[in-house]
Amino acid sequence: MYLSRFLSIHALWVTVSSVMQPYPLVWGHYDLCKTQIYTEEGKVWDYMACQPESTDMTKYLKVKLDPPDITCGDPPETFCAMGNPYMCNNECDASTPELAHPPELMFDFEGRHPSTFWQSATWKEYPKPLQVNITLSWSKTIELTDNIVITFESGRPDQMILEKSLDYGRTWQPYQYYATDCLDAFHMDPKSVKDLSQHTVLEIICTEEYSTGYTTNSKIIHFEIKDRFAFFAGPRLRNMASLYGQLDTTKKLRDFFTVTDLRIRLLRPAVGEIFVDELHLARYFYAISDIKVRGRCKCNLHATVCVYDNSKLTCECEHNTTGPDCGKCKKNYQGRPWSPGSYLPIPKGTANTCIPSISSIGNCECFGHSNRCSYIDLLNTVICVSCKHNTRGQHCELCRLGYFRNASAQLDDENVCIANVCDNELLHCQNGGTCHNNVRCLCPAAYTGILCEKLRCEEAGSCGSDSGQGAPPHGSPALLLLTTLLGSASPLVF
Ligand SMILES: *[C@@H]1O[C@H](CO)[C@@H](O)[C@H](O)[C@H]1NC(C)=O
Ligand SMILES: *[C@@H]1O[C@H](CO)[C@@H](O)[C@H](O)[C@H]1NC(C)=O
Ligand SMILES: *[C@@H]1O[C@H](CO)[C@@H](O)[C@H](O)[C@H]1NC(C)=O
Repeated sequence: MYLSRFLSIHALWVTVSSVMQPYPLVWGHYDLCKTQIYTEEGKVWDYMACQPESTDMTKYLKVKLDPPDITCGDPPETFCAMGNPYMCNNECDASTPELAHPPELMFDFEGRHPSTFWQSATWKEYPKPLQVNITLSWSKTIELTDNIVITFESGRPDQMILEKSLDYGRTWQPYQYYATDCLDAFHMDPKSVKDLSQHTVLEIICTEEYSTGYTTNSKIIHFEIKDRFAFFAGPRLRNMASLYGQLDTTKKLRDFFTVTDLRIRLLRPAVGEIFVDELHLARYFYAISDIKVRGRCKCNLHATVCVYDNSKLTCECEHNTTGPDCGKCKKNYQGRPWSPGSYLPIPKGTANTCIPSISSIGNCECFGHSNRCSYIDLLNTVICVSCKHNTRGQHCELCRLGYFRNASAQLDDENVCIANVCDNELLHCQNGGTCHNNVRCLCPAAYTGILCEKLRCEEAGSCGSDSGQGAPPHGSPALLLLTTLLGSASPLVF
């Protein structure tokens, strides 16, 4: 029931999309890891590449400021109003909630007025540089899906570097430089993302677009993810298939949009003129009201769900993969090397599931009768090799020709297959029992046991003091001979 519901939802989605939005159907959402399909062998699972939905990642980050005591208000201080450098009686006081500007206020909901913001101490120690590092850490690899947007409450800084880490903050690379004068600040020629192309999309540039100083009205700084996507997917990102194709085949491109941490290095506050006004240093500070980071957990196309538990993000891995990023095969599923799912072929991609390990199966699926297995690619199945203990079959679940299932042994018992329970040469059914198909003795009413060796009353504990029930007749050799069958194999599992 559950499975077919799965199918029909999927089918419904296809229908709705094709009616309403013909383009997205071309590249698919990769929002299902598996679906049931009907084949000649009945219902089977079909596995597909899948990824979590893109979401607001600021809910899951930890923020760290350097220097740690750079936030204003401890001790309380006054600063100049935005846009009026001569009105310098605004107060920041960390101990008064209405006057405090802690870092959390960069990630709270904006949309009410006045906006809430983090603010640094002022540049009272000029000419010592006023610099702040704001580090955002996810402790998880994430893939950016939209522009990083930083909204300043102060003027936008004269110099700033956005950096990224892919190894949880051990090493850092610049993502983009921002300056009012790139050449002066970073010895770089100013560029805009629009100057780039498919071939230079990974170039790290310095832009002057967002750093026009204290006096302009715009307060926003972008790191342009979408403009970079557009080099592959076209304007308005209509051709996502092309982007996904590129991401699939170019690891460098995929890595470019992947981070574990971001660091905003504020290097010089908005000055706006050539000289710093030393008489009004309370004019100069950093204030940020909002930081937007949209992305998704990187799960290597093996999960649609990423859970936030114990302040940690983890992919809920499918396809028998495991690890925070589904970056390896589960124990006992290492039958071939792990690989990420693939966006190709569009629209469902390729799951590249992990398959059962050769060595682990020995114990779990050969019932202990073999420790060697072989993967048959064509059949997508694993068979046990060299079954021991007179067993045979894909899982060593059958008895070899001439051997019979020992009913009192478990499937993984060394004695599970035994040579002829009863025949003329070896074992005889006792007390007049007759051998049936070499497998068991048919015992007279008073006897029981594999070879009719036990008195039934003994087993029930009801034998009288004179236990002799008369001499039982011996089995007829002719009958035993007749019932001796050779060459029939009996299954262990039905
Ligand atoms: C910011 O980080 C850089 C790189 O690690 C470091 O050199 C610099 O001193 C830091 N700045 C501050 C203000 O902590
Ligand atoms: C993963 O392994 C389980 C058994 O543990 C199996 O039922 C399931 O079908 C496997 N999934 C894939 C995608 O191979
Ligand atoms: C059948 O299996 C049981 C349990 O291992 C064992 O004790 C018994 O000897 C086996 N029977 C024969 C005939 O080997």
